[in-house]
Amino acid sequence: MTFLFNSDAQRGAVFREAFARKLPHLRFAIGPATVDPGDVRYIISWTVPEALERYRNLEILFSVGAGIDQFPLKVIPPEVKVVRMVEDGIIRMMQEYVTLAVLALHRNLPAYVDLQRQREWRALPQKQAAERRVGLLGLGVLGRAVLESLKPFGFRLSGWSRSDKVIDGVTTYCGQAGLGQILAETDILVCLLPLTKATHGILNRELFAQLPRGAALVHAGRGGQLDHLALLAALDAGELAGAVIDVTEPEPLPADHAFWAHPKLLLTPHVASATQADTAARAVIDNIKRYEAGLDLNGLVDRTRGY
Ligand code: NDP
Ligand code: OXD
Repeated sequence: MTFLFNSDAQRGAVFREAFARKLPHLRFAIGPATVDPGDVRYIISWTVPEALERYRNLEILFSVGAGIDQFPLKVIPPEVKVVRMVEDGIIRMMQEYVTLAVLALHRNLPAYVDLQRQREWRALPQKQAAERRVGLLGLGVLGRAVLESLKPFGFRLSGWSRSDKVIDGVTTYCGQAGLGQILAETDILVCLLPLTKATHGILNRELFAQLPRGAALVHAGRGGQLDHLALLAALDAGELAGAVIDVTEPEPLPADHAFWAHPKLLLTPHVASATQADTAARAVIDNIKRYEAGLDLNGLVDRTRGY
């Protein structure tokens, strides 16, 4: 039985060492060239490996990342389980990034960066955290962890998901009706939704129009969720005061894209979070042990929902 690591060799070396200690009954291979496809039971990969049909005994396809939108699910045989990455390192990094971004917007950092460039020494009006409402789109593994990191600052917190949730200290909303409600009472909107048919293009003109004037956006979900022209129009019209954008469509952005130099926008190149080899190896090993013991997989993708 083989575990095929189909990603970068650096993280592969960390996985190899952990697998040798914890799952010695599995052969561990880095890269498809080195395996007998019929012996492969598990693959970890960022994209669907070429000629997937060769792996006729494949049982689980693990995503290297938390998102699985890069897997066209229809090309994966229905009996193969698809599992997204749930691991402590990726969660911790996302907590750092969104906390950084929310604080940057709360403390007017884009405007101060702009004033610095103009050599202008000027204080802007500052709200207290208790007066600022932060709304999370997506209350999954990452969204909920981010809310925990934001709690100590005293922001008023709310969150939106597909299904109903109860989270201590957070006002929760769900479904289409809940979307309008959360938007109406959000000053800093954070998107941590997976990219699906339902969330494609969700950050659009209509959504921005439902936010209070002067609200701000943190986008760390997926590029395909954001309408760039709608964001630029909302920023330029003053409907939105600022944005921190980590994901775009396409990536990388072309050199002449308006996001690069927009004074109200901070841009990062899809680095909000990344899978950490040591903690991810532990999480995948734990998941294989669960699977082999007949227990539920952590992060199992529901193909009908698409996440
Ligand atoms: P989860 O699957 O744990 O959570 C997804 C959340 O989104 C759930 O709360 C789900 O609702 C909600 N949701 C999904 N579809 C809808 C919808 N149509 N309407 C309302 N709510 C919806 O995902 P994670 O938290 O692990 O990750 C979220 C995303 O973050 C990833 O898919 C990826 O795109 C992005 N990401 C970005 C990174 C970066 O570096 N920028 C790094 C890692 C991830 P419910 O709870 O009801 O199911
Ligand atoms: C992920 C990512 O989905 O890095 O893990 O975007």
